[in-house]
Amino acid sequence: MNTSASAPATELSYLSGFGNQHSSEAVPGALPRGRNSPQQAPQGLYAELISGTAFTAPRAQNLRTWVYRRRPSVVVSGYRACAQAGWTTGAAGGVLVPPDPLRWSPFPLLEEGSPPTDFVQGLRTVVANGDPDAHIGMAALVYGANTSMQRCAFVNADAEMLLVPQEGALLITTELGCLHVRPGEVALLPRGMAFKVDLPEGAAKGYAAENYGAPFRLPELGPIGSNGLANPRDFLAPVAAFESESESEFEPGPYRLLKKQGGHFWQAEQAQSPFNVVAWHGNLVPCKYDTARFMVIGSISFDHPDPSIFTVLSSPSDTPGTANCDFVIFPPRWLVMEDTFRPPWYHRNLMSEFMGLVQGQYDAKPQGFRPGGASLHNAYVPHGPDTEAFAKASNATLTPHKLDDTLAFMFESRWRFLPTAWAMQCGALQVDYARCWDGLRDGAQA
Ligand code: FE2
Repeated sequence: MNTSASAPATELSYLSGFGNQHSSEAVPGALPRGRNSPQQAPQGLYAELISGTAFTAPRAQNLRTWVYRRRPSVVVSGYRACAQAGWTTGAAGGVLVPPDPLRWSPFPLLEEGSPPTDFVQGLRTVVANGDPDAHIGMAALVYGANTSMQRCAFVNADAEMLLVPQEGALLITTELGCLHVRPGEVALLPRGMAFKVDLPEGAAKGYAAENYGAPFRLPELGPIGSNGLANPRDFLAPVAAFESESESEFEPGPYRLLKKQGGHFWQAEQAQSPFNVVAWHGNLVPCKYDTARFMVIGSISFDHPDPSIFTVLSSPSDTPGTANCDFVIFPPRWLVMEDTFRPPWYHRNLMSEFMGLVQGQYDAKPQGFRPGGASLHNAYVPHGPDTEAFAKASNATLTPHKLDDTLAFMFESRWRFLPTAWAMQCGALQVDYARCWDGLRDGAQA
């Protein structure tokens, strides 16, 4: 990459701020001044507009970026169908299961002797709802990759993607520049924008969401005020950088373009790298966020607040306050509430809840819910602390307590999730999960 190829991934430069109108140029003078599409763009570049919303979307939600590139994206061979059988899309890719709580041990990814598998090949859909062509719903996936994508680029026309690394760093090259993302950080990649994932530290595993609906935005803060939760300045977008064929660390040759559209996979060739944007400006940008920057709010008197106070990003639906997808984290935090059962309460919910664990323990499930695993509590499926967690929290001395070295997260959706056949048959499903509540006794006998 020009401007960054010689710098270690950890020393990449970034632009700060969620939703900002950024501008960046890898070569001075490459960005037109005062207009978007001059008769001749500077330095012989082509101007191209990438729209993340309809032209007429309200100004507050409107997303678009102008890119100035060495060759426009339209120069590509015809697409041919290809397969990625493990990455199913929407409710159509799910199977019917009883309304039981579901939990998975760490998924079987990159097991001993796994063949070379890149990020796209290594994605597996665990649960999904909705339909990308209707711009409704989402999917929760896991990935395991042991090889870089090199001269392969991927465009997801179905969904914005949120990556939640669990093991190993990702170097994500996008049309707008590079992001280096480690466990504890997350990356947000706009729908329709080309990217590839390389592995600077070797094999990597993690979680991902495909958001078929409205792009993620920061939640409203209401009485919290103008600060707190995820602060806008902590979202980091890349600076412009382009792959120079002569400087490529890989053998020159055609780029393979992989595109997902309507749940189907297509491939084509392009002689030039799609990462050929020399300058850009706009607010449709990939970005990363370090969850350690999340300002956690909790009760300083009594009761366990609703977990919506942990919302990092929200994809709204057409019903106010009822998200297509909320991305919620449970980071390290202090518990200080008096006369309170401090773990999450027993609960049934209109919303459907998919959870994963990046590291450590989750306070409602100290056993069985492990890093790299997952759980699903669909709409109105009762859930809550297991027998051991209930007994411990009911009798604990309520001194201030730090939940440390932990990072769980939740994708919460108004649409019921359907697990995939792979999720049910991959061997990670804990068939005895519901037994974790068996020991709860009749309260009248307590
Ligand atoms: Fe819940």
